[in-house]
Amino acid sequence: CGIVGYIGDKNAQEIIVGGLSKLEYRGYDSAGIAALTANGLTYEKAKGRLAVLEERLKDHPLTGTVGIGHTRWATHGKPSDENSHPHTDEKLQFAVVHNGIIENFLSIKEELISKGYNFTSETDTEVIAHLLADMYDGDLVGTVRRAVAKMRGAYALGIMSSHEPDKLIAVRLASPLIVGVGNGESFIGSDIPAMLEHTRDVHILNEGEMAVLTRDGVELFSAETGEKVERALFHVDWDLVQAEKGGFDSFMLKEISEQPQSVRDTMGARIDSETKQIVMPELKMSNEQLSAYDRIYIVACGTSMHAGLVGKDVIEKLTRVPVEVAVASEFRYRDPIYTDNTLMIVISQSGETADTLAALREAKKSGVTVMAVTNVVGSSVSREADEVIFTWAGPEIAVASTKAYTSQVVALYLFALYFAQVKGTQTAEQVAEIVDHMLDLPEAISEILADSAKIRDFANSIKDVNSLFFIGRSLDYAASLEGSLKLKEISYIHSEAYAAGELKHGTLALIEEGVPVIALATQPDIYEKMVSNIVEVKARGARVLGFAVESDNELIKSVDEVIHIPATLPILTPVLTAIPLQLLAYHASVARGLDVDKPRNLAKSVTVE
Ligand code: G6P
Repeated sequence: CGIVGYIGDKNAQEIIVGGLSKLEYRGYDSAGIAALTANGLTYEKAKGRLAVLEERLKDHPLTGTVGIGHTRWATHGKPSDENSHPHTDEKLQFAVVHNGIIENFLSIKEELISKGYNFTSETDTEVIAHLLADMYDGDLVGTVRRAVAKMRGAYALGIMSSHEPDKLIAVRLASPLIVGVGNGESFIGSDIPAMLEHTRDVHILNEGEMAVLTRDGVELFSAETGEKVERALFHVDWDLVQAEKGGFDSFMLKEISEQPQSVRDTMGARIDSETKQIVMPELKMSNEQLSAYDRIYIVACGTSMHAGLVGKDVIEKLTRVPVEVAVASEFRYRDPIYTDNTLMIVISQSGETADTLAALREAKKSGVTVMAVTNVVGSSVSREADEVIFTWAGPEIAVASTKAYTSQVVALYLFALYFAQVKGTQTAEQVAEIVDHMLDLPEAISEILADSAKIRDFANSIKDVNSLFFIGRSLDYAASLEGSLKLKEISYIHSEAYAAGELKHGTLALIEEGVPVIALATQPDIYEKMVSNIVEVKARGARVLGFAVESDNELIKSVDEVIHIPATLPILTPVLTAIPLQLLAYHASVARGLDVDKPRNLAKSVTVE
């Protein structure tokens, strides 16, 4: 979800709606805004996109120069007007916006009901507003601290009260929250773009911190002890235009198109252009420490987990260190077998995914060193991990991850190579050869982007199918899983990715006349096996789109159509196959008339379990 708050001398509604529009990617099934006016607290909220709220505000504009707003991605309670934030108490003394979950809200709610409070929504958030009303003793800051002490969970809050109309309060426990300081005005945001138009001077709240905002500035405290926290402001030097669509019809297409640059940025200064060796000055651990690791867990969710699958293969190939990949929601409840020489790598674009963060914390608790691969500087994952490799892909707005994925894969290549260098499992010449090919990847991506008509035509041809399949072996299997996820996410076409050799153990039963199969055959060591699998599906009537490397003139004999991928080393091919697979999903979504950037039921950053 997204949170915005404003206190200053301008119209709060305007600033808050502007901020929310920058955060819509965090959640968008409902939106709301509350403001303090001379006549007390007023609010407007609506199920649906921010545009629905904006329509309502046209008829009932909110005046006032202090306010909070929210875009929601439902957790407790379905999307509806009532369940939208802000939530208030019955007497309209307190308004609250909230991200995350209050785990013990039911017991607090029961207590409040027994005292005669009436609830209008199903949310855990409404409980906070009533709790504040119940506990208020003339001191808003103290009341919020006592209320927060009663609540368990992971959350970020924006709070205002008609009793003390010259302040806003922000509290962070686990969910991200930023406060900004302007000239005679202060801001709350769940993310920096929400306030970037107005200020570049911010505090990123740490866990357990609260901020009291007035027109004169911001003070930070520990929510638990009330002790003041002194910290210099953080100056943001991003460009807001970077986070806007820049001429493309969707963020996703813009982000797909940015990959020559984002991949280049990920490699950036990590490649020594003279020696063609990898340098990783960001790592704090010594080479001795690094080379001692003999076992790795990679833990992540969704697309990031798929990047991990590519990483596993490459780390194992280059270093012979065994790597296990796990989805974070499973891993966090497992009893993993750590040794003294186990390294954990968590991968997260946003750095805020609740399950990934929880897995990181579990590992740290067990004394395991955690290395993060993340895109967001200042994110929870980046701050809590022992070591961080930033992907430097730039802000990613579309829900379906594209450039963050290829940058994650490239970051894992860089780490694998560096690890191999330090361990001595690859010679300097071997590393240099791979590096040479990596440096050509941006150009190869540009080539694919420049010639995408075939994939668009194929996407148009599948727009009405009910189901299709992706098959591949080894690295092509990892790439297939991501291709299939991408297609499902934004086109809503059911698809499955299979390890091609496994097909005959069940799925082959689903192949009948005309069923589309996308077959990745870019890996030379298992190429012939892959062709056999293609022949198996062709024999059952499948319509096959093959992916082959540039020099391959054979595959076309076994399939209906071929997409050629520029030549590179087999271990690097997944970065290139990703591009047409992303374009396939994108064009299928467009062909079906769907909202490419905001697929139903999904959120960019899942900060709840
Ligand atoms: C959500 C997004 C996915 C993403 C996953 C993990 O489900 O919709 O695109 O891959 O979270 O996110 P992370 O930020 O941890 O990489």
